[in-house]
Amino acid sequence: MLIMERFLNESEFKTFRDLIYNASGIHFSESNRSILESRLKERLRKIKLSTIGEYHRIILTDKTELKILLDTVTTNLTRFFRNSMHFQTLENHVIPELIQYKREKRQNHLHVWSAGCSTGEEPYSLAMVLKDLVPPSMHFEVTASDLSLQSLMTAKEGFYPENKVNNVPEKYLKKYFDRKDNGYQVREEIKKAVTFDYHNLKHGSGRSNLDIVFCRNVIIYFDEAAQKNVIENFWEAMNGHSYLFIGHSESLFGMKTNFEFLKTDWAVIYRKFNC
Ligand SMILES: C[S@@+](CC[C@H](N)C(=O)[O-])C[C@H]1O[C@@H](n2cnc3c(N)ncnc32)[C@H](O)[C@@H]1O
Repeated sequence: MLIMERFLNESEFKTFRDLIYNASGIHFSESNRSILESRLKERLRKIKLSTIGEYHRIILTDKTELKILLDTVTTNLTRFFRNSMHFQTLENHVIPELIQYKREKRQNHLHVWSAGCSTGEEPYSLAMVLKDLVPPSMHFEVTASDLSLQSLMTAKEGFYPENKVNNVPEKYLKKYFDRKDNGYQVREEIKKAVTFDYHNLKHGSGRSNLDIVFCRNVIIYFDEAAQKNVIENFWEAMNGHSYLFIGHSESLFGMKTNFEFLKTDWAVIYRKFNC
């Protein structure tokens, strides 16, 4: 029988698992322990440390290194217009309905949050759709946040290699990107519509009056308690008439929440209504 030697012993695994969970809500279980181990190994190699004990001592005193650790263990996979059914729901149902509602209420501001925005593809996709659908008499803003500093740097730059823009519909690619030698640059009018922030979902939302929240493929890495905490914070931060999009493999099923389940012709989303 092949016995693989672990990078972390039981007590080291528990120490790092709890430390990461308490700092971010991200939960490493026994089944994804090898991901945690390989990412820690990579970090130690990079900063030329030979023992996990030394690294633990650094983490306890150095807040910057804790941020880097969180960045190291996150999964930042994303793409433009990910889950096209969500974008169809947004274009055909959510935005027209919100515009109508805002008109009736004589309000002219639409605030969208992409929480866990990774390298920016999601908030830029949102901004392109909003730019085309929101009338000039109405103002919209997209705020986008993540705890991965590296991802936020890429996001702010708004430059993507050719293979990353495959999913962008032709009309948006032509209108909102500039072709460069080795990729595509998001144009200034879209960049201006998006504000990027460092924000850890573990620490409240720090926002209010949100009309749409996209938090997709983020809480899947959290345990139940941390998920509930994030969803409750969204509820508090959202307008009385607003929409929540979570990833298609995530669900609020079984969670005690006031969000209503909404099935449109395209996708299942959640809403806060008449509050
Ligand atoms: C898989 S990506 C999803 C990106 C995008 N929302 C999408 O669906 O394509 C998950 C992102 O959530 C971020 N994340 C994980 N835990 C977080 C936390 N506690 N606070 C803020 N962002 C977090 C990660 O850094 C990563 O960029």
